[in-house]
Parts: sequence; structure tokens; C-alpha cells
Amino acid sequence: MADPWDRAYDFAVKVARRAGEEIRKACESEIKVMIKSSAVDLVTKTDERVEKIIISMLKEEFGANTYNFIGEESVANGKPCILTDKPTWIIDPVDGTTNFVHGFPFVAVSIAFAVKKQLEFGVVYSCLEDKMYKARKGKGAFCDNDRLQVSDVKDINKSLIISEHGTDRSPEKVTKIFSTMQRILRIPVHGLRGSGTAATNMCLVACGAVEAFFEIGIHCWDIAAGAVIVTEAGGMLLDVDGGPFDLMSRRMVSANNNTIAQRIIKEIEIFPVERDDAEISKK
Ligand code: IPD
Repeated sequence: MADPWDRAYDFAVKVARRAGEEIRKACESEIKVMIKSSAVDLVTKTDERVEKIIISMLKEEFGANTYNFIGEESVANGKPCILTDKPTWIIDPVDGTTNFVHGFPFVAVSIAFAVKKQLEFGVVYSCLEDKMYKARKGKGAFCDNDRLQVSDVKDINKSLIISEHGTDRSPEKVTKIFSTMQRILRIPVHGLRGSGTAATNMCLVACGAVEAFFEIGIHCWDIAAGAVIVTEAGGMLLDVDGGPFDLMSRRMVSANNNTIAQRIIKEIEIFPVERDDAEISKK
């Protein structure tokens, strides 16, 4: 029997490619930068335009009311960030906006699809590198036509780890982020990296280029597609306290295996962040 979401999956790849073309074109013109939650949380007209293109392509193909949408820029403009049982597209039109603004060459379009709150597939188009990462639940993860497999390193001393600084510059949070990084470096690990896009970082775990990526403060649209790609490449996701991964919690460890994940978790200094669905939790 045909998989009910195969058409949506194939179409998501087309949409991501189209969105990536738009971002590449925008790199050639002047970029007008605006700010969101803080002076370092950047947004541009391209983020907004590309999200509109993605949502209108999906609505045109599947009907205006068939699916729910959680899009980074729609949420910033007041739309709810609610994951219900209804099939839902979770979209980050430009993951790595700061990179985009500075011409740092990692920018991704991230499109995921969830049904009954379970992620069915994810597409991450690293558009400046022209690499299409994708994964469908139960069917493996790919970069273009190459199947992805996480690394088999179990020894933390032989690992390469990714983390990011995020966009909150409150002194307590910055201190905790850097303290965690110091603790991990001192294990020691081979090194710490960061591409500036959470979606791409997760694809690097899936490729086996790094053993783990963790962050507190990311949003569901940054990591939803990458979550499917990492797990379909044989990796795993956990909360930063070692509990189950929760897409709306804004906390995540993605790793090649449990040994590496648990070793990283021992060093993470957790700080509080408001959930993506905080408004509903309060109701
Ligand atoms: C950001 C990137 C970055 C991560 C931040 C995200 P954006 O997403 O994924 O790597 O550290 O937490 O907010 O704002 O460029 O879509």
C-alpha cells in the first residue's frame, strides 16, 4: 500500500529547493536586518518572504485548510505555536539567519511534518552548499542520494561535538553555556564546533562528521526536520537532563549513540527556558 505521506514528503523536497533558490538570490542583494527577541536575534525580509512562499506552495498543493502550520516567522508575528494531533508542517525558512546576514556560508531551509504529534519526515536544504538532507520515518536518511549513517565512535575522548551560543545574552545564561563548553573541552574531546544553524548541525551528526550536537534555547522549527534525519541515520535524541526528547521544550541532545549522549549530559549546566508551547501549558 502506498505510504499516505509519500506525496507530501516528495513535495517538501521541491519546496525546500525552491526556498533555497530564493535565499541564494537574496544573498546577492542588500540585506535589511531587523531584530526580534534581542539585539542579536536577527530577522530579515527574506526570512518572512521565504516562509510565505513555503506556506503558499503547500496550501496550493494540498488545500488551504488541510494542515496546520508552525512557522518561525508566523509565530514571531503572533500565530500560535501549538502542536496538535492534526497533521502539521513545522517550518524554519532561513535557519542560520545570522550566517545569512554575515555571508557565513551555512544557511538551511528546514521543513518537517508531524502527525498526531509524531514526526513523519524532515527535509533540511543546506542551500549555500546545495546539499539536500532528508529522512522519512522508517525509510532511512539521505544527503542527496547518499544514505546517511551516524559515526560509530563510543569513546568520548575521540569525539567531535557541536554546540551553539544561541541568542540570549543574559549574563547567567552566557556563563552557563561557556561553563558547559569548558567542561566538555576538558573531558577532553577532540574539539567543539558550531555551524550557526541547528538544522545543519543535526545533519552533521547524521553524516557522522560529529558525534553530538546539543543546545538549550533552540526552537521546534530549528530541530524538527533534523530530528527525523538524526534518528533515521541511526542516532538518538534526548532531553538535556537525560529524559525523553520533547520537541517543544527548547532543549535537546542529539548523538550518535547513548554512551556519547550520556557523557555529554553529565557536563551540561541546565538553565531555564520558556517552552515553545508555553501559552497553552499555562491554560
Ligand atoms: C538559530 C540557529 C542557531 C541556534 C539558535 C537558533 P535561526 O536559528 O539555528 O544555530 O543556535 O538557537 O535560533 O534564528 O537562524 O532560525
